[in-house]
Amino acid sequence: MKTLIFATNNKHKLEEVRNVLDGLVEVQSLKEINLAGDIPETADTLEGNAAQKAEWIFERTGKDCFADDTGLEVEALDGAPGVYSARYAGENCSFADNVNKLLAAMDGKTNRKARFRTVICLIENGEKHFFEGIVNGVITDGGSGDMGFGYDPIFLPDGYDVTFAEMPLDEKNKISHRGIVTRKLLEYLKQNENNKK
Ligand code: IMP
Repeated sequence: MKTLIFATNNKHKLEEVRNVLDGLVEVQSLKEINLAGDIPETADTLEGNAAQKAEWIFERTGKDCFADDTGLEVEALDGAPGVYSARYAGENCSFADNVNKLLAAMDGKTNRKARFRTVICLIENGEKHFFEGIVNGVITDGGSGDMGFGYDPIFLPDGYDVTFAEMPLDEKNKISHRGIVTRKLLEYLKQNENNKK
């Protein structure tokens, strides 16, 4: 089985990615390989940040690895918070701070359309490969649900009447940006394996 290091300290992301790759790719967390430190993400695109995080791991381990970067892009806010989703309410802010700031920014707005976009950068044999996953939906008026993380309580995916935070992980993964992009990564890895045979 192929082994990949996942450049994240977010246990929710790790769980979601493992749920897709389980039994097919061994995903090592930073904790498991004892790699500590603040991974930089200072680029102004999701692609740039995903690459920066994966490079940080590759420089320290020389091993195949990947990173993801996610943005919540809200139409009425010209795509904000986008690449700045993690620190929308300021440095060291909580998920709740971000959610509250977004709800305040959306107060009175009738266009509630938004999308989550995730970019994965895989570094394999020193070479970068990019994959993208998108899910469309709307921003709700108030939060509901306590599963998931981040902006999940206020994101209602198109075609559903529950937020991501009201869905068990399995269900969220079937339709989410991260589920989609992780399956693309898996398809690429499988294809690569087949080409070697
Ligand atoms: P990053 O990819 O870790 O930089 O994530 C950016 C921001 O988006 C963070 O505040 C995350 O909590 C949030 N985020 C990332 N993925 C998800 C998700 O699947 N659901 C809800 N929020 C997310």
